[in-house]
Amino acid sequence: MNTDTTSPCPGGSGAAITRRNLLAAGAASATAVAVPATVHAQSRPPATRTPSGGSGDGAIPMATVTLIVNGTRHRLELDNRTSLLDALREHLHLTGTKKGCDHGQCGACTVMLDGRRINSCLTLAVMHEGAAVTTIEGLGTPERMHPLQAAFVKYDGYQCGYCTPGQICSAVGMLDELRAGVPSHVTADLNTRPLLSADELRERMSGNICRCGAYSNIVEAITDVAGGRS
Ligand code: FES
Ligand code: FES
Repeated sequence: MNTDTTSPCPGGSGAAITRRNLLAAGAASATAVAVPATVHAQSRPPATRTPSGGSGDGAIPMATVTLIVNGTRHRLELDNRTSLLDALREHLHLTGTKKGCDHGQCGACTVMLDGRRINSCLTLAVMHEGAAVTTIEGLGTPERMHPLQAAFVKYDGYQCGYCTPGQICSAVGMLDELRAGVPSHVTADLNTRPLLSADELRERMSGNICRCGAYSNIVEAITDVAGGRS
């Protein structure tokens, strides 16, 4: 079925607006808005082009992007509109990172980007040329688990498992932020290093949703790794 419907240009110039043109224009404007808000706003942009053989009119803009994922360098040929999440799941087949809402609301897609946690569904892969990405597959293995992975097992901090990878990646990033003295919304004194109180932990993990209600076990697991419990 041809879904690329064509309608007359309202400007009356004789040019035509296609659905594909509109999508490309929308994606371009969305990118322009999103770039300044990301941790990689200053990254060198990859070269972009249209696919070989394309006329340039309505062709999908493509780019070659290099990402270092879990220590391995990957060179990807991507539609510019590909989210980091889709690049990981659909192009590199690293399906440990989950797509829950695809709207930045659940945290299931959390990965570490150059050492900072990020919702990979909310950022475009082409914005992160040369970046180092760590997914749940890169944190540990069943034989050599990351301390947080082991703690989630020990305290039964997971239920369905769908949101667990994001919870663990977020917890890794959150503890790094705490060690670095980064304040949160509930930090009372911005002049002193924040401590891992229950309020701090819950606030810092509030971007990760667990629909089944394992929150109390997740809190115990993170507190244990942070040294709050022997
Ligand atoms: S899938 Fe990214 S926040 Fe839900
Ligand atoms: S672990 Fe997925 S809903 Fe709780």
